[in-house]
Amino acid sequence: MRQNTVLDGKSLITPQAISAHFLASDTRTKLQNGEQARAELALVLQIALQQFDSEVDPAKIIHRAAGALHGIRKLYAAEIWQQLIPIAQKHPVAQYFLQDPFTRWSFDKPRGYSGDAQLLDFIYGHPSVSAHVDGASALGKALYAYTREASSSVAVRERRDILADFVDECANRCEGSAEVLTIAAGHLREARISKAFELGKIKRWLALDQDPISIGSIHQEYAGTVVDPVDGSVLSLLKNEHALGKFDCVYAAGLYDYLNDKVAIKLTEKCLDMLKPGGSFLFANFATEIQVDGYMETFMNWALLLRSEEDMWRIVRGATEGMNVDCSLRYGENRNIVYAVIRKLD
Ligand SMILES: C[S@@+](CC[C@H](N)C(=O)[O-])C[C@H]1O[C@@H](n2cnc3c(N)ncnc32)[C@H](O)[C@@H]1O
Repeated sequence: MRQNTVLDGKSLITPQAISAHFLASDTRTKLQNGEQARAELALVLQIALQQFDSEVDPAKIIHRAAGALHGIRKLYAAEIWQQLIPIAQKHPVAQYFLQDPFTRWSFDKPRGYSGDAQLLDFIYGHPSVSAHVDGASALGKALYAYTREASSSVAVRERRDILADFVDECANRCEGSAEVLTIAAGHLREARISKAFELGKIKRWLALDQDPISIGSIHQEYAGTVVDPVDGSVLSLLKNEHALGKFDCVYAAGLYDYLNDKVAIKLTEKCLDMLKPGGSFLFANFATEIQVDGYMETFMNWALLLRSEEDMWRIVRGATEGMNVDCSLRYGENRNIVYAVIRKLD
């Protein structure tokens, strides 16, 4: 049977598509006992429910539940874990966790897909989410105080700094003439912390995204600057629908986590093709070491393709075969996000 590869990450961002990927992964070393897994989950959820009813400190409740969910996810085969997700989502305790405005936004997906830029604004603590936070219950606010400081959120805020540093290094190298391309730019929050941007050391900065609301936000926020929003997607890039020119640096964050290897390799090849000699491409991915995956996939309904170092190298190798490049991999400080940087040498 011929398998079609969906080339557009936009259409890949569904928990169903991601679970199909999980199911294809190796489960031989994991437990297969579904009944036992359901019993363990029921216990975790019941304890959390009792704790909420008894007004235990919300941070303690969510910390314990998230840790236990991670443990169950790790222990059991992917297909069993996938069966547990809707059980958790339908459990009465979900109504407590969903009082967290960040969890609620993720679960409801008001923009129609997971991991939108507004969701990241909950992590960044950006004023754009203030109304949602202010309107939350006292319990919701307490849960948000926890989720926005969870290890994954800390890693995303560090990622924003790493992206700004990546642009700044590029701008220093190019002495004022840097041309930058951001793919899946979201609200491009990193531009506000880029020194080079502040000092006017960037010649042009294209910010591509498939979401018209994100594009509108960039238009508004960066009107009159070198930032130029581009309404486009992974698919339109791969189909060469844009004549964007060449760049000194290209990067993508919050995108590869939704792309299977085949699309990830094609996109990487395309990004390298858009680099000038000496230019660099960076892509980030949530790492397999993340600890809050169980909570994200259940109560936030936010599934990600987590990648290990080896998974990242597979993409890098697949996209750079026969090319004269310098490649490196690094983790962020808490190892929740892994970064690949490919420098094109000629
Ligand atoms: C998690 S946000 C990341 C935003 C930003 N890069 C950051 O790190 O804060 C993901 C963004 O990817 C965009 N996106 C998802 N799939 C895409 C695709 N196939 N093509 C272009 N953009 C895409 C979404 O519209 C969203 O704005």
